[in-house]
Order: sequence, then C-alpha cells, then structure tokens
Amino acid sequence: MNVLLLVFCFVASVQWAPSEAVPFVIPWYGRWIVPTVGEVWPKPQQQTSSETFFVLRPTMFQFQVVGERCDIIDEAVRRYYQIIFYPGEAGRSPLSYPPPPTPIQEHPQFRAFLDAVEIDLKQPCEYLPSADMLESYNIKIDTPDNPLKATITSDSVWGILRGMETLSQLVYSSAATGVAYQMNATEITDFPRFSYRGFMMDTARHYMPLKTIKKMTDLLAQNKMNVLHWHLTDDASFPYESTLFPNISRYGSFQPFSHIYTANDVREVIEYARLRGIRVIPEFDSPDHTQSWGLGQPRLLTECYDDNGILKVPDEYGAIMPTREENYVFLQQFFGEIFNTFPDPYVHMGGDEVSYYCWQRHPEIKAFMAANGWGEDYTKLEQYYFDRLTAATQEITQNQMRYIVWQELLDLNITLPTGTVVEVWKGDYEGLSFNEELARVTKYGYQTILASPWYLNYISYGLDWEKYYLAEPLDFDGSEAQKNLVIGGEATMWSEYVDSVSVIPRTWPRACTVAERLWSDRSVNDTALAALRLEEHRCRLLRRGFMVDPSNGVNFCEQEWDM
Ligand SMILES: *[C@@H]1O[C@H](CO)[C@@H](O)[C@H](O)[C@H]1NC(C)=O
Ligand SMILES: *[C@@H]1O[C@H](CO)[C@@H](O)[C@H](O)[C@H]1NC(C)=O
Ligand SMILES: *[C@@H]1O[C@H](CO)[C@@H](O)[C@H](O)[C@H]1NC(C)=O
Ligand SMILES: *[C@@H]1O[C@H](CO)[C@@H](O)[C@H](O)[C@H]1NC(C)=O
Repeated sequence: MNVLLLVFCFVASVQWAPSEAVPFVIPWYGRWIVPTVGEVWPKPQQQTSSETFFVLRPTMFQFQVVGERCDIIDEAVRRYYQIIFYPGEAGRSPLSYPPPPTPIQEHPQFRAFLDAVEIDLKQPCEYLPSADMLESYNIKIDTPDNPLKATITSDSVWGILRGMETLSQLVYSSAATGVAYQMNATEITDFPRFSYRGFMMDTARHYMPLKTIKKMTDLLAQNKMNVLHWHLTDDASFPYESTLFPNISRYGSFQPFSHIYTANDVREVIEYARLRGIRVIPEFDSPDHTQSWGLGQPRLLTECYDDNGILKVPDEYGAIMPTREENYVFLQQFFGEIFNTFPDPYVHMGGDEVSYYCWQRHPEIKAFMAANGWGEDYTKLEQYYFDRLTAATQEITQNQMRYIVWQELLDLNITLPTGTVVEVWKGDYEGLSFNEELARVTKYGYQTILASPWYLNYISYGLDWEKYYLAEPLDFDGSEAQKNLVIGGEATMWSEYVDSVSVIPRTWPRACTVAERLWSDRSVNDTALAALRLEEHRCRLLRRGFMVDPSNGVNFCEQEWDM
C-alpha cells in the first residue's frame, strides 16, 4: 500500500460513529474477552487515570524537544510519530466508519485537541545503554501542574524512550466516540523493577535474517525489554564472520555467502538496538557446543578416542582442547575481537553442558590431569579452562570484559571472576524447582538472571501464557542479600524448530508476559486483569506490523493481519 493512500485514509477516518447497540444477548456469540482501551503494557508502577480525553490530529501533531537532545531522541521522535499514526506494514485495512452525528468538541469528556507532546530530557544523552542505565520517567497529561499540556520527563535518554513507548500506547481509537486517535488525561510515574530484561535469540540452529532480528528488537523496545542476548553460534553453525578468523564461518556456517553476519551486519544490529535503548550481548558458547568452530580452526577441538585408545577422528571431536597452549592464543585474539566489535562489556561465555567424554580419553589430557594430581576430577580441568580463558580475555581487554555464564559452572563449583553474572536455566537440577535453583545459585554471591520458567520454545495447545506471567523471580527462600543479586531474567527461543517464518508469532505475545513480570510491580499478578490488557496489546502489536499470535482464544482485532 503506498504512503499517500494511507495518509488519505487516515485523515479521512479520524472519526467514526459508534455502532448501534443490539438490544439482547445470545450467550455463546462473540469474543471470549473484551480488550482494554488505551492501557499500557507492561503496567506502569503508578498511574492515575481520568475520563477526560484529548484528540490527536495526525496533520497537526508534533513532539517538541524542550530538553537535551541527541540522535537517539531525534530518531525516536520520527519513529513514534509513525508508530502512533501510520503503523503501516501490517497491510491493514484502514478504519473507516461514518462520521459521528455531533462534533467531537461537544462530547462531555472532550478536553481539547492535543497538538504537541513535550520531550523533556533533564540530563545530557548517554551514547550506549548499559547494565546500570536509568530508565525511569514521568508523564503528565493535563495534570494540575501541567494543565492542557502533555510532557514526558526523565533524567536519562533511556527513560525518555520508555516514556515515549508508554505515550504511544496511551493513544487509542475509540468506538465510543468515533475518534481514531484519542488519549485520556493521566499521570504516570514509572520505572523498572529489574534492570536486566532480556530475550535470547538463537541464530545458530536456524539462521535469522537481519530483518527478523530488527523486528525482534522493535518488539523488545515496545515491551520495554532492554537486552538482546544473541546466541550467535552453536554446534550446528557459526554464522559470525570473524575479521581475524574468517575461516570459521567460511567452513562453519550453513552457507558462507548468505548465512553469515558480516561486521557490517553486526554493526547494524547494535546501532538499531542502541537507538531503542537495548543492549546487545553476544554469546560465544564454549568449551562445548563448539563443533562448528572446529572446521575452520584446526586443532581447536579435542580429538576423540574410544575406550580402547583408538582415535575416532577424522569424524569425532569433543569440546575445545583445554591443554593445547595455542588454543588460548586463539581464544584471546578471538574474544579480543568480540570485545572490540560489541560495545557492551558483557559477553556471554556459555559453559553449559560440557561433555567430558573426549577429554577423559585423550592421552595428552590424561597426562595433564596426572601431572596436576587431579585424578578423575574433570571439573578441575574445566576450572582450568575458564581460568585460562578469563585470564586471557582480561589481559587483552585491560580488565574491562564482563562475563555471563550458564548455571552449570556453579553447579560444578567452578570459581569465576567477581562481577560475573550467572544465568539460571535449569528447573529440574537434582529435582529442584527454579526457585530452589535460585536459592542455591545466589548463595555463591554472583549476580543472577533467571531463564528457567521462560523457555518459550516449548509450546502447547491452548492458553499457555499464564505460567510465564506468574513465574516470580524473588519467590525463593533466601536472604535479602541473595534476593538483591537477582537482577532480572530473560525469555529464550531456542531455534531448532523455528526460523524467521515462525520466530515472531511463537515468541510474541508470550514474551510480553515476561516483560511485564520483569518491569511491573510484583503485585501485578492477576491473570484475569492481565488478559484484557494483553489482548489490547496483542492487537496493538499486530496493527504496528508484527505477525504476533492470538493469545486468549476466540477474539478479533479492529484491524486484522491482511497480507
Ligand atoms: C478514557 O476515558 C474514557 C471516557 O472518556 C473512559 O471510558 C475510559 O475508561 C478511559 N480510559 C482509561 C484507560 O482511563
Ligand atoms: C583458511 O583455510 C584455507 C584452506 O584450508 C587455508 O589455506 C588458509 O590458510 C586459511 N586461512 C587462515 C587465515 O587460517
Ligand atoms: C560443590 O560443592 C558443594 C559444597 O561444597 C558439594 O556439596 C558438591 O558436591 C560440589 N559439587 C561438585 C559437582 O563438585
Ligand atoms: C499475587 O501477589 C500477591 C501480593 O503480592 C500475593 O499475595 C499472591 O499470592 C500473588 N498471586 C499469585 C497468583 O501469584
């Protein structure tokens, strides 16, 4: 659909008449639940509502930047104008209703036309989102101290971004008044409950095109999530094109010309995310989950022997060979490149599911174990690998690099540098629930993020978002100090059975529930109330051009997917 036609349709359809009420009800007719109108997802910490409303006119409306400004603000102004008035792309059929019987100005709750929203950033912009970025903001729309005006205020550019998202969600089309863009007077004070609100995207089991990654990033921003954990590589493929070691993706990606992320691609993703206040944390999982690294980096992996000491190569390899000095030279250079490519100091180092099978059978490793007096305790060797890896990466990054690891390293009592963040993903470790896992892992004193209850790749028929919504990260037996170590969590979408066709509808709106759990107050946990707002939010995301699944059973959106 071309833009001119869209503009025409919207201007022509600013108002429509309410539909006529039917005088009786047939019980099983119609939608199962009625969505809210103009409510925000995730729910703000504090909001006072009012029934008086303003009408926005697309041709008159503007954001007025009255405080500090920078490219992040300028881009957001452009973006949110589009999001509010011309969400496009969905192939939507524009709303078209007959004009209302009386002018909107005569409606008892009409307050005024609102032609401007002020953006008031009180402190200079930061360039990059970070682990301790401030995201709080205030919105005042026609409050006693801000009459007839709308203002978003924050001390940080990230707060302004979150506030603009909220503002865009306050705008709604009203079947009751026939107005396409209206917004109630309100006052909002908002801030996140947890600082780490992530989503893990797996581009190793299926390659995800850049366009899909960007759409995912938009969806994160529109749910106030702030970390894209990019699981770039795994056994199956290595799509990251390294500048120093181009052979790894040349031989270890699915297709070296089409199924890789070049340095430019990576820069594009980082920049796209930065402008939306989202950190990009790459994961280069090691020492296991590394089969794809071995093809272009000979001698990296452990050659595998059988029980009789017969070499199983050329066909079988284990985890990275931990006793070969040259491998630490490689790892130092490789992670040095990663540190310089991705601006966030945190890199996810993996560390999950390390199989000792090939380590246990390699003569060089056996000799190394004996020389160190480690007997059969291969966790000592894994500790050695991580000691060497962290020492090498600290050296090349002048102690600037920070780590995230999967929980196994703690399960094995492996010691990690201070400041490491541990990601809890198991819920059944020795029969423990995720809450018990958290109680156990936080005792080690590392900051912790939770993923166990939010493995969205597991799917089932019917309503399945409530369990994600109700998973509570602080509901475990532990001291205040332990609870303070939980800095947030993330939803994951492992991609063995999704690719760019299905990753968005399978993730959304189910990930919205994780976003609300991690942003909103702990007491926001009524699924019946959440369902009504989730229903509105789902239709909102659909209208904005994202192919997101229905989540609450029988229903409809004002504007359906139509392409
Ligand atoms: C907005 O105001 C209308 C009446 O003008 C009211 O019906 C609606 O519930 C209000 N919405 C919110 C979110 O406060
Ligand atoms: C890449 O692999 C090719 C073919 O095996 C080899 O000739 C070349 O030296 C390798 N390049 C690097 C930088 O290792
Ligand atoms: C880790 O340490 C705890 C406490 O010292 C011990 O009970 C447990 O067996 C150790 N686990 C491993 C895998 O060594
Ligand atoms: C919701 O939160 C309240 C208060 O924080 C708590 O008492 C209640 O058990 C929670 N309900 C659920 C279903 O988690």
